Amino acid sequence: MYQFDREAYNKRMSWYLHDRFGMFIHWGIYSIPARGEWVRSVEEMPEENYVQFFNEFNPVDFDPKKWARAAKEAGMKYAVLTAKHHDGFCLFDSKLTDWKVTNTPYGKDIVREYLDAFRAEGLKVGLYYSVIDWHHPDFPSYNDRYHPLRNCEAEKDRERNFDNYLKYMHGQVEELCRDYGKLDIMWYDFSYDDMRGEKWKASELVRMVRSYQPDIILDNRLEVSGTGFGSIATENPTEYSGDFVSPEQIIPPAGFKDDSGRNIPWEACITMNNNWGYHAKDTNWKPADMLIRKLVECVSKNGNFLLNVGPDARGNIPKASLERLARIGEWMRDNSESVYGCGAADLPKPENGRLTAKGRSIYYHIYENSIGSIWLEGIKKEEIKSIRLLSDGTEVKLADNWMVENYPDAVFVDVSSTPYLPDAIDTVLRIDLK
Ligand code: GLC
Repeated sequence: MYQFDREAYNKRMSWYLHDRFGMFIHWGIYSIPARGEWVRSVEEMPEENYVQFFNEFNPVDFDPKKWARAAKEAGMKYAVLTAKHHDGFCLFDSKLTDWKVTNTPYGKDIVREYLDAFRAEGLKVGLYYSVIDWHHPDFPSYNDRYHPLRNCEAEKDRERNFDNYLKYMHGQVEELCRDYGKLDIMWYDFSYDDMRGEKWKASELVRMVRSYQPDIILDNRLEVSGTGFGSIATENPTEYSGDFVSPEQIIPPAGFKDDSGRNIPWEACITMNNNWGYHAKDTNWKPADMLIRKLVECVSKNGNFLLNVGPDARGNIPKASLERLARIGEWMRDNSESVYGCGAADLPKPENGRLTAKGRSIYYHIYENSIGSIWLEGIKKEEIKSIRLLSDGTEVKLADNWMVENYPDAVFVDVSSTPYLPDAIDTVLRIDLK
C-alpha cells in the first residue's frame, strides 16, 4: 500500500523551491510548418501530410551550448525540453520506434546533446514527455477530443490495443530514465476526460521512474492538467500525484495550500508569445519588463516560473526570445538575491510593487515611484535593522522631512531625487529585520 513520504518529498523539492526560474523548450518537426506544436490537431492533418517534415528535419544551426548559455545568462537554473510531444516524434534515439530524430537527416540524439550542454552549464535538467501520442496506432483517434484523425471515418472501426500503447509509453519513459543519466524533472503532459491516473497505469509508471531516478521531481499532469490541483493538495497524495501544481498561461491569484494549510509547490509555465512551439507569424511577444515582474510575482506567491522558448526549424531560439532573455539576465545580475531561495513575505502586497522574502530579509520590489518619499507599506520602523538598494548595496535611510511628519508610524525612504527609480522595471530594496 503506497504511503506518501513527506520527508523525502521535502528533501527532493528543496533545490526546486530555491531555483525558482527555468526554461521550457518546445521543439520538434512542427517547427517546420511553424504554426505551433498543435498544427496536426488544429488542421486535422493526416500523417501522410506531416511526414514530409520528418523527412526534412535537419536543424543546421542547432547548438545546445548556445541555448544553455542563453538560459544561464538569463538567470535560469533549470530547463525542461520536450523529449516527445503529442505528435509522437521523439527527440531521442528510442529503440521502440522509427519515428525519431535519429532517423531524420539530422541523425543525432538531441535529448542527449541537450542534457550534456545544460548540465555542463550547471543547470538542472528536465524532460517533458507527452502521454498523448497521435502517431502510435494504438492510441485512441476516432472521437478522441484532440486526435488529428478524430473525425476520420476510416479510423472508426480500426482495431487498437491501448495496453500495447501503454507498454510502448512506459517503455519509452524507462529508456529516458535508464539511459540518459540523472534527470531532475519529468514533466508529463497531459490528462483529460477519463484519460488520467490509472488509465495511464500511472502508479506503475511512477514506481518505475523512481526506481531509476529516486530524487526526480514530477509535475501533476498524470492526474490533472491545468484544471484542478490533484491529490498533492490533500493529506494523502496518490503515488502519481506529482510534486508540483502546474498552472499554464496564468499566474494564480495566490499560492496554493494543501488541506492542512501547507504551501504547495507550483510552477507557472508561460510562453513568450502565444505559442509553445515555433510559430512564424506569432509576433505577440511579451515585453521583458512584464516577464521580469511575472517572475517576481510567482516568487512572491511561493511559485516557480517556467518561461518557454520555441526554437525554429534551423535550431535557433528566436531573436525576440533571446533579446528578452538577455534583458531578464541584466536585471537578475543585480537582483537575483530577491528571487533565489525566496518566497512570499508574511505581509500584504504593497500598492506600488511586490514583496519577496528569505529568512529575516524582505525584498521590496518597487514598480512605481512616489511623489516625494516612498512609503514602505507594511514595514514596521522598530523592526528595521538596515535598508539597502540591492543592485549596488547603497544605504537607504529613513525619510526625515516635514512631508512625512504627519505619518509617524509609517516608514518612508528616499530612493531617488529624480522622478525616476534607479531601475524603471523593478527597483529592489533589501530590508534586513532585527
Ligand atoms: C498544453 C499544450 C501543450 C504544451 C503544454 C505546456 O498542454 O497542449 O502543447 O506542451 O501545454 O504546458
